[in-house]
Amino acid sequence: MLKVEEQQPVQFSAALIEKSEEIVKRYPEGKQKSALLPILHEVQAELGWLSPNAMDKIAAFLSIEPIEVYEVASFYSMYFLKPQGKYVLEVCRTGPCCLVGAEKLMDHLQKSLGVKENEVTPDGLFSWRGVECLAACGYGPVLQIGPEYTFYENLNEQKVDDLIQDLRKK
Ligand code: FES
Repeated sequence: MLKVEEQQPVQFSAALIEKSEEIVKRYPEGKQKSALLPILHEVQAELGWLSPNAMDKIAAFLSIEPIEVYEVASFYSMYFLKPQGKYVLEVCRTGPCCLVGAEKLMDHLQKSLGVKENEVTPDGLFSWRGVECLAACGYGPVLQIGPEYTFYENLNEQKVDDLIQDLRKK
């Protein structure tokens, strides 16, 4: 059963449609499916996440089956299939980072922000989640903050609290 926000109709802006058409033109005739990844990024940038209706609309736009959009969007962690906060704190939870405190950091985030993984704080500002290796294994624990994907290394609880405070002030 879909939640209310997952059933809401979506509208793409004229600018988004224009940009998507421009992306499709980068690929050979009949290969419009190749435009899927960049278009998913554009849609997510405009809507904040990829609802089932948004993905259906992308499928119709590219003349492909909805399942072809779902399978790609659900494979890559950079696509959000649920509403997220304005800032998404993504903590590496792969082995090397766990050895130096990633799990402790995620527990701390849950306490500091007062929401579980993939939930959104009541002010709409933050959500957090564990992700796989962020390719800075010697500098853990690490996290990146979407949507710009700024990157932070050698973290501890105090540094994470400072980051959150800085983001609140923005
Ligand atoms: Fe954390 Fe690779 S294990 S960045």
